[in-house]
Amino acid sequence: MSTSDQDTSKLWGGRFSEATDAFVQRFTASVTFDQRMAEEDIRGSLAHADMLCAVGVLSEEECAEIHRGLEQVRAEIAAGEFPWSVELEDVHMNIESRLTQLIGSTGKKLHTGRSRNDQVATDIRLWLRGAIDRIASELTRLQRGMIGLATENSDTIMPGFTHLQSAQPVTFGHHLLAWNEMLERDYGRLMDCRARMNQCPLGSAALAGTTYPIDRAMTAAALAFTRPTANSLDSVSDRDFAIEFCSFAALLMTHLSRMSEELVLWTSAQFQFVELPDRFCTGSSIMPQKKNPDVPELVRGKTGRVNGHLVSLLTLMKSQPLAYNKDNQEDKEPLFDAADTVLDCLRAFADMVPAIRPRKAEMREAARRGFATATDLADYLVVRKGLPFRDAHEVVGKAVAHGVESGLDLSEMSLETLQRFHPEISDDVFEMLTLEGSVAARNHLGGTAPEQVRTEAEAALSHLQLRDSAQP
Ligand code: ARG
Repeated sequence: MSTSDQDTSKLWGGRFSEATDAFVQRFTASVTFDQRMAEEDIRGSLAHADMLCAVGVLSEEECAEIHRGLEQVRAEIAAGEFPWSVELEDVHMNIESRLTQLIGSTGKKLHTGRSRNDQVATDIRLWLRGAIDRIASELTRLQRGMIGLATENSDTIMPGFTHLQSAQPVTFGHHLLAWNEMLERDYGRLMDCRARMNQCPLGSAALAGTTYPIDRAMTAAALAFTRPTANSLDSVSDRDFAIEFCSFAALLMTHLSRMSEELVLWTSAQFQFVELPDRFCTGSSIMPQKKNPDVPELVRGKTGRVNGHLVSLLTLMKSQPLAYNKDNQEDKEPLFDAADTVLDCLRAFADMVPAIRPRKAEMREAARRGFATATDLADYLVVRKGLPFRDAHEVVGKAVAHGVESGLDLSEMSLETLQRFHPEISDDVFEMLTLEGSVAARNHLGGTAPEQVRTEAEAALSHLQLRDSAQP
């Protein structure tokens, strides 16, 4: 085992008589990834310094010095000139030690009444809150586009599927609004996570609180948290908010993967339901005819890593005794990557969805070919001719079998032919057998009728508006 020379620059070096092993130094450091939270760390430190000043632990001059120093650190980071060092382990100690270099020993007073444990718990929450707000606005943009496309396609007919077999005709707008419902619940989960997470751990210090006369309400308010956390042990240890975010993310990705899968199917030569603009697709280097739906495929694929991050964080937290443990340093990479992935996928979808071009004739033809109005014929026999549903089902089954054999849809059979299956069928049957008649008849809350789709889309849009104005 190699050891580096004793290093006195460590902020915790006092009780050590031997320098950290060089590999251990790298192994335990987090600065390569947690420097992403530098801005949050600075904001937390500024709020902490102001509070220490307000309660008389720091003088006005010292507080002003710290402000000046941290502003310079901020500028160096923004300019890419900050001297990040693995020897200083993490973002917190890098910034603090640079502050001391810049302003002298006043910098060493910043850590009064604080620990890296409450500091990091605060930084991650601040970072995640920012990420949540960016994600929420992309999610809203996607929903807006989806609802717009649904409105334009409130009467575009396509086959609805169960078991991926043609089931009943639906409107494309109705299908899109089903997607929107999934996203709406995801948005709700995201906001629940934000509300539960938005409490300030500062003041919890290492685990037990601190002996200084701190004002926790002041730092919480300065950082726009709703209140200080209630228990110092819990505050520095639990990362349930990161897990909750990842479970939101995994569900959202699961929903996006389902939409992606449908887009992949629909753009295939076998379905031909929709066209994606070229800018969202790529070609093949060998097969000149190919136009591959790479964007939805990749979104579908990226669901795997986000699900993985959820499992990582659950496993990371499992069985950890109170309070802070170094294990928790492992929370950041999965959390960052989950947030980045979700944001990218939402962006891709929000750009792509409004540009989806439905191929209405192909969709309609597919609905026609699939005997999608068979249930309507059965309902006709029940409602107009008084048959029990099971008998009507049997009659229509026979008519469909004939259709399969003869290549005719129910609506294309003559009245005489239909009467072979049930003598009471009369001329009025044909309005029920058209695709338009079939969708229009499902005209109730949540049904596929064009009128319902338009009403639902309007309601969804005004809900988005309300949501926007209530945005935290
Ligand atoms: N880099 C650490 C983390 O991410 C910061 C907290 C370290 N605290 C400690 N007592 N070693 O969790």
